[in-house]
Amino acid sequence: MSSPRFCPYEGDVDARSPNRNLAPLTAEIDSEDQLWVGGCRLADLADHYGTPLYVLDEATLRAGCQAYCHALTHHYPGESLVLYASKAHSSLAMAALMASEGVGLDAVSAGELLTAVAGGMNPRNVVLHGNNKSWVELELALEHGVTVVLDNWWELDRLERLCGQREQRVRLLIRFTPGIECHTHEYIRTGHLDSKFGFDPEELDAVLRRLAMAPWAEVTGLHAHIGSQIFELQPHEDLAAVMVKALGKARALGHDPGDLNVGGGLGVRYVASDDPPAVAAWVRTVSTAVVAACRQHRQPLPRLLCEPGRSLVATAGLTLYQVGSRKEIPGVRTYVAVDGGMSDNPRPITYQSRHTACLPRRCRAAATETVTVAGKHCESGDVLLHNISLPPVVDGDLLAVFATGAYNASMASNYNRIPRPAAVLVHGGQANLVQRRETGQDLLRWDILPEHLRQSDPAPIR
Ligand code: LLP
Repeated sequence: MSSPRFCPYEGDVDARSPNRNLAPLTAEIDSEDQLWVGGCRLADLADHYGTPLYVLDEATLRAGCQAYCHALTHHYPGESLVLYASKAHSSLAMAALMASEGVGLDAVSAGELLTAVAGGMNPRNVVLHGNNKSWVELELALEHGVTVVLDNWWELDRLERLCGQREQRVRLLIRFTPGIECHTHEYIRTGHLDSKFGFDPEELDAVLRRLAMAPWAEVTGLHAHIGSQIFELQPHEDLAAVMVKALGKARALGHDPGDLNVGGGLGVRYVASDDPPAVAAWVRTVSTAVVAACRQHRQPLPRLLCEPGRSLVATAGLTLYQVGSRKEIPGVRTYVAVDGGMSDNPRPITYQSRHTACLPRRCRAAATETVTVAGKHCESGDVLLHNISLPPVVDGDLLAVFATGAYNASMASNYNRIPRPAAVLVHGGQANLVQRRETGQDLLRWDILPEHLRQSDPAPIR
């Protein structure tokens, strides 16, 4: 391939901070105007695996992990650990890849926990979140010895009973709402006081006092998370200060909380105008704020934990679709429909989020028309891209939608009984299937037809 780096809409590619680019780091255009990622031509992947297809670039995933780990080593004088927030994309391959980069994992359900462990993640480096953890989930956490992020009083009572029954201790991070507002979509804000997650800061004292009397609990630290897709650094700086103060309180009440978990939240670039901070800038801000607050409150440096999800995986992924029907409404708009939609990418309909796309078989062709890319679901709001400029799109064209590595596969559904796409991991010209495409049979897998409804002789269709 002789061509330069792929940058149809972006300026310089930031190789050190994948969250700042639209496309995966290995994206390239060849002399025939075809887009490649991870050394694989996207058109070949679509031919071989079908569409819609999630494509994940291993090099970009690894670069994201390394960006966090290196920045922590460089900017934070104490120990640190990155925990991948696996809600962004949970699969065996992802858990294994994260583990191989020395990254731990945040799970929020038995399913994410089982995936992590089956993928080879060391349970010592896993934390279990959730505002309504089931008995089974808590049991599983104890069985594997993962740290539980204690969310509320109800859970505290449950854990007390469970630990009593099992005669076992549990490591706890106590989650509280730090009362910090940030600018992001209302559904993905969590740090403000009116949140379903975590203890109110007013209650922290009482929780710490109760746990100081609890032989079954080891309070290893504190946790807070202020929200997702955040472009500002100030809220994270403020968060660090609030949390260090709370650490001091925990120590004063007899605990030995070595860990400070500041959550995730760093935003990514979905469209050209998005300008999120670099991973290193985020880490530097948090680290500096923690160090300063520890100095101010005369606290020893904690082990610094953070839980990035989106910024580790979003821009490593893209989705390939095939274009089908087209509807032109003169003077209104032109719809172009693809073979997927809100079931493989529920973000636009849920959060009005925006994406960038191109035609990977004709990357540099002039964008001469404005179209709205709709999905194939039976729902008018099933639109993936509103008013996007593309070269003239025709039936059978391949469309690549960028930055779909986070909260796409993990939030996918079977709405309208549409099978979920396959996912491939690409690297050095190799593509590995990491999630098989669902089939019609898969869709019927859990249905049970009661005997009395079975039609030996179906009624004629009138
Ligand atoms: N830690 C906790 C406790 C969280 O609740 C989350 C995200 C993260 C870490 C990771 O945040 P990130 O680094 O990915 O911003 N489905 C939504 C995002 C929901 C985020 C939920 N919590 C979306 O597609 O935008």
